[in-house]
Amino acid sequence: MKVVKVGLLGLGTVGGGTVNVLKRNSIEISRRSGCEVVVTKACARNITRERICDTDGIQLTTNPNDVINDPDIQIVLELMGGDEPAKSLILSALSQGKHVVTANKALIASHGNELFAAAADNNVTLAYEAAIAGGIPIVKAMREGLSANKIEWLAGIINGTGNFILTEMRDKGSAFADVLKEAQELGYAEADPEYDVEGIDAAHKLCILASLAFGMPLNFEKVYTEGISTITPLDVTYAEELGYRIKHLGVARKSDAGVEMRVHPTLIPEKRLIANVDGVMNAVVVKGDAVGSTLYYGPGAGAEATASSVIADIVDICRQLDVPSDKTVPSLGFISDQLQEIALLPIEDVTTAFYLRLSVEDKPGVMAGITTILAENGISIEAMLQKEPKHGTTAQVILLTNSVVEKGLIAALKGIESLDSIKEPAIRIRVESLQ
Ligand code: NDP
Ligand code: HSE
Repeated sequence: MKVVKVGLLGLGTVGGGTVNVLKRNSIEISRRSGCEVVVTKACARNITRERICDTDGIQLTTNPNDVINDPDIQIVLELMGGDEPAKSLILSALSQGKHVVTANKALIASHGNELFAAAADNNVTLAYEAAIAGGIPIVKAMREGLSANKIEWLAGIINGTGNFILTEMRDKGSAFADVLKEAQELGYAEADPEYDVEGIDAAHKLCILASLAFGMPLNFEKVYTEGISTITPLDVTYAEELGYRIKHLGVARKSDAGVEMRVHPTLIPEKRLIANVDGVMNAVVVKGDAVGSTLYYGPGAGAEATASSVIADIVDICRQLDVPSDKTVPSLGFISDQLQEIALLPIEDVTTAFYLRLSVEDKPGVMAGITTILAENGISIEAMLQKEPKHGTTAQVILLTNSVVEKGLIAALKGIESLDSIKEPAIRIRVESLQ
């Protein structure tokens, strides 16, 4: 059987998990790929550190060039993360005719257009299944399984750390900082956990999913992003009273006006399957014109779950080692000269329903003032809760609006917040029916 030598850049959570699964399942992987896949070299910053994997038979180095310049290595796994030196190392490996597998969504989102072009120029593959939703084979599903469809929209819980935090806070009442620490210990979080908490990691993934869905170049800087750090237990409780769950959702939708890409906390009806995706699990709903709604579910982070995706890419590459890259599945699922620039909508032009929580003075006539301003801006109320003051005279009014263009809602809130009876800035969270 043909031996394919693999070199690793990075031997942490994902790198270590990949070595473990490659060793444990070597026979199954050979039967699937037609090759004996052997890890010969791995690079890390500190090669004396204890690893989660057995490194017997693997030459360890602190110099990434020892891996990418090794003429026997045919596939390089970039599992170190970050922009540099990862980008330069990938470009160098590609230029030497090596195939590259990466889990680095930050790099693909920000530099994927350049990196995919470099892979094509060098007639090799740059694969990235592990970059989105951990162990869920969502890239394969979108590039191949859904290729008959015009994709209308997709929505996903695509950060495992964030979903883990929200779930533990809701179910156990745990403190945000404690759960984040646990997620870090479990190997779920990014090197900078702000990426998870502030939605940047989800925005990286959403940008790639949107390009896969609509056949457009990557446009990371156009993704609207809000994090989860502003979600309060009060809003989680009120949302549940109204029959909703709050999830950190990435949404990409194509309409005649253009494409919207946004990551933000979102109320989802509790009866939707995706509203019940908890812990580190991720899920992506993709709506195609032919197939209808499809749902992809699985672990969004973690050593072996992510390794599952890394190794699926290795198997694909092994099966196609002698196939010219223009005959393999295109990086973004569309032939590269068929990618199209599409207008990208600013968030002010996006239409969604809203959850509003207003802190109001508990006195007659307050509701009339609020509803008048909403009506003047063409906004109607779909549901309402009123919570009497526990202390003092400030009551909570919770409203669900109809679908409204965001700039219309902002104008209405400006008017509402200027009323004497409104005590604090309104809390607003977007609502998606996902139908
Ligand atoms: P870790 O921090 O666990 O591992 C990173 C590895 O890269 C470590 O072995 C580190 O060395 C090595 N490394 C980092 N910088 C350098 C450098 N300059 N030179 C040499 N070695 C270097 O990260 P993860 O495994 O969690 O993540 C890796 C990538 O996978 C990231 O892009 C991440 O976004 C992505 N990813 C992570 C998932 C997860 O669940 N953790 C899931 C999906 C994607 P040392 O060990 O000595 O510090
Ligand atoms: N930090 C990421 C997450 C890793 O929690 O989803 C998987 O991409």
